Amino acid sequence: MADDDFAWTVKACDDLNAFDLKLVSEFFNEHFPGVFYPKCFPEIFTWKLGDGNPAGRGFLTVAMYKNQVVGTTSGTRRELIFRGERVPGMEIGDTFTHPDFRRSGHCATPYQQDADPDGYFSKSIFGRLVMETLDRARKAGVVHVYGTPNENSRPPYIKRLGFQEIGSGKIQTWSSISPKTAFQGRFASLLSLFSKGAKLLQALGVMFGKNGYSIKIVPFEAIEELMANMVEFEFPDQNPKADFVLSRGLNFLRDRYQNHPTYSYYFYLVARREKPIGIVIANSLTRSSGRRTLVISDWFGERVNMRKQLPLVIALILRNFPNVEIASVWSENEWTKAMTWYRFGFIGRKNVSLIYKCLSQGHNPTSPSFSKFRFGWSDNG
Ligand SMILES: CC(C)(COP(=O)(O)OP(=O)(O)OC[C@H]1O[C@@H](n2cnc3c(N)ncnc32)[C@H](O)[C@@H]1OP(=O)(O)O)[C@@H](O)C(=O)NCCC(=O)NCCS
Repeated sequence: MADDDFAWTVKACDDLNAFDLKLVSEFFNEHFPGVFYPKCFPEIFTWKLGDGNPAGRGFLTVAMYKNQVVGTTSGTRRELIFRGERVPGMEIGDTFTHPDFRRSGHCATPYQQDADPDGYFSKSIFGRLVMETLDRARKAGVVHVYGTPNENSRPPYIKRLGFQEIGSGKIQTWSSISPKTAFQGRFASLLSLFSKGAKLLQALGVMFGKNGYSIKIVPFEAIEELMANMVEFEFPDQNPKADFVLSRGLNFLRDRYQNHPTYSYYFYLVARREKPIGIVIANSLTRSSGRRTLVISDWFGERVNMRKQLPLVIALILRNFPNVEIASVWSENEWTKAMTWYRFGFIGRKNVSLIYKCLSQGHNPTSPSFSKFRFGWSDNG
């Protein structure tokens, strides 16, 4: 589609006008089907980047070529708590470049010469769009930026854009794989046997470890009541140990989960011997791999009980989703906890990369860290 003579342009779409968002959605649906489930719709951008987001309006930057979108980057505002204080944060993401433009073409308008000595921001769509998104975010007062890149975008974020990786190895995806999964390839029968074993472990774990724990689906409003009435309720706004935590007040939870334009989240009330101890937020969707997945997006409640019993609680929730092929959760990678995950048939699948960049000189923490990073902090589930 492109060659070195073809020049793309950069467009800031922060006003979220309907025409631009339609083109962006078409770009995703045509070139990256499955990234958004069931499809990409303009409403996804108006929801997370528009006035409804309690942390503020976000940023959307696209590359255009012949009236078509050929690359995207977004910045979604998030309120973070930094050492006890509320600070303006942002998640950088939606970095996608049309395959034909990854190593050819150039930008019609060169980036400021002094900030771009080898011309990277005038040729790489990814580099240029992220840079321009960060520039506008900085001007609008955003200070702390984070992201959860995949193996394609992690290298340029770090090598080219000055992000630092702060979470690799600390957060891990734990998964429970169902024997129903259509395993293919050389190790198919071995994997299937393994997942049957994991399922058996899970059933035994639930049988012997249930210990009075139960779950039930509740409406969103029940969260408010629970927060008001529970003694020792852990809300991550209070975590003195970590540099950063996501501020998760009721307004955030309502907007992030209840108001999501395309996903239907389930709010599970967890109780022990009838006494409520917490909430788990889950979502069932089909990943771009085609796998029906149960995503455990977030959870909170009584500090000790919820932390220790999460694998059991997820195993209980899984019983409500017989068609799910894989359940996934992001959780801190601690050895003691790992044993509990194994006991309930979960395996650690991969480390999650978490990157960070400070946009304001003088506010840069010496060795930044995030605490309790979960799927729900990002747009991944
Ligand atoms: C991740 C992604 C956006 C990165 O885009 P990209 O165009 O490859 O951008 P990069 O800046 O990483 O470019 C890779 C290399 O090609 C070079 N390059 C990019 N555009 C070029 C161009 N027009 N001409 C010549 N070289 C170019 C870059 O300089 C870089 O080389 P370097 O290693 O020397 O710095 C892209 O690979 C993609 O869309 N992947 C699929 C979707 C995806 O996984 N997105 C991430 C979601 S988390």
